[in-house]
Amino acid sequence: MNSIEVMVKEHELISRMLKVMRQACYGILKGEAFCLGDFYEMIDFVKEYADGHHHNKEEKFLFKAMEEHLGALGQKLIRMGMLVEHDLGRLYMSELREALENLKAGNEESKLDVIASMISYTHLLERHISKENDVVYPFGEKQLPKDVIEQIHIQTEEYEMNALKNGVQEKYEEMVKRLEEKYS
Ligand SMILES: [Fe+2]
Ligand SMILES: [Fe+2]
Repeated sequence: MNSIEVMVKEHELISRMLKVMRQACYGILKGEAFCLGDFYEMIDFVKEYADGHHHNKEEKFLFKAMEEHLGALGQKLIRMGMLVEHDLGRLYMSELREALENLKAGNEESKLDVIASMISYTHLLERHISKENDVVYPFGEKQLPKDVIEQIHIQTEEYEMNALKNGVQEKYEEMVKRLEEKYS
C-alpha cells in the first residue's frame, strides 16, 4: 500500500469537509436555522479522522522518518512547520468547542467565535494540505532511503487495515457525503 497515495486521498476527503464547514458558517452569517448537532459532527470528524486518523499517521510514520533521516532541514520542516500546524488546528477546535458551549448557554454573540474558529481552521488546513501535497510529501518520498519508504508503506497498510476493522473510513466518508448534501 502506497502511504503517500493514501494520505493524498485522505486530504481530498478532509478538503470536502472544509467546504462543508465554510458553508455551515455562511448559513450562520445569513441567519439560517442553526443545527448544533452538525457542528458537533464536524468536530468529531476533525478529532477522529483529520487528526486522530490522518495527522496521527503522518506523525507516526512519514514525519517521524523524515525527522530521523533528513537532518536539520527535515527536522525544521516537520517540527517547525507541520507539527506546529497540527497543534494550531487542535487549538482552533478547542476554541470552537468552547464557543458552541457558550452558544448553547444562550450567548448569541458566540456565533462570531464559532465562525472565527471554524474558518480559521479551514484556512489553516487548506494551506497545510497544499504544502504537504506539493512540498513535504514529494520531498520525503524523494529523499528518504528506499528501505525506509518501504517500511512506511508496510506500517501504513497495517494501520489502515486496523482502522478498516473499526469502520473508521466508512463512518467518515458517509458523514462527509451526508453533510455535503445538506450544506452545498
Ligand atoms: Fe499534516
Ligand atoms: Fe496531511
